[in-house]
Amino acid sequence: MSVKAHYACSACGASYKKWIGKCEDCGEWNTIVQEMIQMSPAIPRSKQQSNSNSQSMEVLSLDAPCDQDNARFHTQISELDRVFGGGIVKGSATLLGGDPGIGKSTILLQAAAKLAANGLNCLYISAEESTEQVRMRAQRLNIAHRGVKVASVINVEDIISSINRSNESHILIIDSIQTVYHGAIPSAPGTVNQVRTCAFELIRLAKNLDIALILVGHVTKDGQIAGPKVLEHMVDTVLYFEGDRGHDYRIIRAVKNRYGAANEIGVFEMSQQGLHEVLNPSALFLPKTKARNSGSCVFAGIEGSRPLLLEIQALVAPSYLATPRRATIGWDSNRLAMMIAVLNARYGLNLLDKEVYLNITGGIKVTEPAADLAVMAALIAASKNIQIDENTVLLGEVGLSGEVRPVSQLDARLQEALKLGFTRAIIPYTTNTRSTIIKTDMVQHISQLQEII
Ligand SMILES: Nc1ncnc2c1ncn2[C@@H]1O[C@H](COP(=O)(O)OP(=O)(O)O)[C@@H](O)[C@H]1O
Ligand SMILES: [Mg+2]
Ligand SMILES: [Zn+2]
Repeated sequence: MSVKAHYACSACGASYKKWIGKCEDCGEWNTIVQEMIQMSPAIPRSKQQSNSNSQSMEVLSLDAPCDQDNARFHTQISELDRVFGGGIVKGSATLLGGDPGIGKSTILLQAAAKLAANGLNCLYISAEESTEQVRMRAQRLNIAHRGVKVASVINVEDIISSINRSNESHILIIDSIQTVYHGAIPSAPGTVNQVRTCAFELIRLAKNLDIALILVGHVTKDGQIAGPKVLEHMVDTVLYFEGDRGHDYRIIRAVKNRYGAANEIGVFEMSQQGLHEVLNPSALFLPKTKARNSGSCVFAGIEGSRPLLLEIQALVAPSYLATPRRATIGWDSNRLAMMIAVLNARYGLNLLDKEVYLNITGGIKVTEPAADLAVMAALIAASKNIQIDENTVLLGEVGLSGEVRPVSQLDARLQEALKLGFTRAIIPYTTNTRSTIIKTDMVQHISQLQEII
């Protein structure tokens, strides 16, 4: 077997024949690293055809009874079960990604403890902390007595052979995939090749033995270590912690789920005793006092299957730079650029020479176009230094010509706003006549952004 060098992007996994400074796939700089791959010897044609080891495949029918109820493990942490789509599916592979220190090990240990207390066999493999450190965390979380088994191993072949031998695990947690290694791969742990091979072998094990596998992946800034993105296509479910450690609230979002709704979120609060679930998060990210500054307004969003009211803050300031600074937290910067262009081209509101900052409070990422109107209202209010009525919510997608377009699940959004004490809503015209709430005095319909400028 010969070993050959190639280059791989540690952010997205794209592979290249030679080194380049910027990945052509994901656009990241300095993430291309050299890796060694094994070239298996070419199999002669004659041998390929009469391969004595090959087996004929087993073909099954679709109408055999299926075991719906027993197909999932329930962690009984309902915010976590929710992001999994109603519990962890047996024989599935999940990737849990997030920044270091955000709470990945904590939530998985808590989940494992709940499952173990329910009689399931949970094996927690720590490849970056000693068993002593895991034990200390378990004691701080007061779950050490629940029967989770822990091992500190980094060799994937050892993990696989022990599990194959005992064959009694229901849940297997690998913390983290970047610190385990496979002996057949010549590169160091954490490289794209290692991470993928280890994940592949572990997933195969999980599918064979019907184990629910959870892989932890650190989001890395260091270009040398492969990020969780390189594994997303290999697993069934991808969960990410959102936000940063600056807040006490932690959001876990399902960005991909073969067994449930993508985009579902679970909301938790971090404390000494671990992560506590927040069951009704819709008002969590709203300011505690009603008094509002200019440039802030409230948007009634839908995250996953739940309404969530969010405060949007904009700040516009004069700039002395040739390229004025633009910064967003929780909002796509390209979409902000588009809005600034629309405001300039359609309404003569010039923000091009100003610094513009946009912040969705609470550390949540909003990708819904339904938030456009609220974001633009915040920008307009910030630049004109006016205050938006604190009892108003805004909803609507805004197009390039300034037209305000309908949004999905209008009723659910308005109901939640009403429940939380908002008395006015500015929304797009809609043809939905079944809804009763949109006929009330609460609602003002608009069709052009012009109407609020
Ligand atoms: N007494 C404590 N000791 C250590 N961590 C604590 C303590 N109390 C709360 N924490 C929280 O636990 C977090 C560590 O989370 P952890 O699950 O280890 O993160 P990850 O596995 O994602 O790197 C810390 O960032 C901190 O917010
Ligand atoms: Mg950890
Ligand atoms: Zn890349």
